[in-house]
Amino acid sequence: MPASESQSEELDRPNMARIYDYFLGGDQNVTADRAAEHVLDNYPDAALAARANRAFLRRAVAFLAGQGINQFLDIGSGLPTVGNVHEVAHTINPTARVVYVDNKPRCGPLQPGVASGGRRGRARRRRD
Ligand SMILES: C[S@@+](CC[C@H](N)C(=O)[O-])C[C@H]1O[C@@H](n2cnc3c(N)ncnc32)[C@H](O)[C@@H]1O
Repeated sequence: MPASESQSEELDRPNMARIYDYFLGGDQNVTADRAAEHVLDNYPDAALAARANRAFLRRAVAFLAGQGINQFLDIGSGLPTVGNVHEVAHTINPTARVVYVDNKPRCGPLQPGVASGGRRGRARRRRD
């Protein structure tokens, strides 16, 4: 199947990473993801929980970078959004390195413009 057809099919269905981005107020989501808003009917705090989780991630990365940690492995990175690990780490240590891993298409390393993090960054997609 051509890549574009495959991608189009993916965009026809809700994707948890993009729904999460929607809850964060990001712009990496499509109509199918926004239709999953009914999740909030049963779990009204889902968006708040997503934002609290993201805020914790930023605090934790800033703390660790401040302690001298300069290599980060972000497993289940989700879609690039505001306050990515490399952005937070680089505010403390511009030489910090971050590897993003996610098992969903178009997460982490698939957004080279966002996730490559400047001249030290490199984006690569690998599937098994
Ligand atoms: C809720 S998002 C978390 C995003 C980000 N880490 C954060 O805290 O804001 C969870 C992510 O984990 C990814 N994920 C779930 N199981 C995984 C696995 N076995 N290997 C890699 N990524 C996984 C999902 O695709 C999703 O993008």
